[in-house]
Amino acid sequence: MVPQPVTLHVNGRRQVLVVDGAVPLLTVLRNDLGLNGPKYGCGLGECGACTVLVDGVAARACALPLAGVAGRQVTTLEGLAQGAALHPVQQAFIRCQAAQCGYCLNGMVMTTVALLRQQPRPSDAQARTALSHNLCRCGTHLEILAAVQLAAELSAGLPGAVVEGGSPGASSP
Ligand code: FES
Repeated sequence: MVPQPVTLHVNGRRQVLVVDGAVPLLTVLRNDLGLNGPKYGCGLGECGACTVLVDGVAARACALPLAGVAGRQVTTLEGLAQGAALHPVQQAFIRCQAAQCGYCLNGMVMTTVALLRQQPRPSDAQARTALSHNLCRCGTHLEILAAVQLAAELSAGLPGAVVEGGSPGASSP
């Protein structure tokens, strides 16, 4: 396909890229925009390592052609924090020590952000279902599920759920 200008909005910034519209969004994010939060895992839409938000919904950037997100709002891991204040989901994953190798974490975090937008207080079963297609080979699933619940508490500003660096609501995407 002949390269053509494609306009999209990434982490609140308008971007105009002259590329083949069939190129995966993940390739453009990592190679053209230097956003390495989304990871390349399987490249087949199976593992979730590349997850981003498109108009607030979790999507697999490796399986999305750039032309498919023209004019839409894309949020990557880099777009979650508000200045020095990490997003409540990021804080929760850190506090629950939910990372081992960390390769899956982008997808786990972004999927959790999308889940909490739809379901602010998910049950454990709902969290398991939402994350069931995000693969983690280290086996930190219990810590990840605990992080989802803590993230929900932080986002809701529940007593005892202290958000570092800002108010809970201030850092929602
Ligand atoms: Fe996109 Fe695995 S790299 S789902």
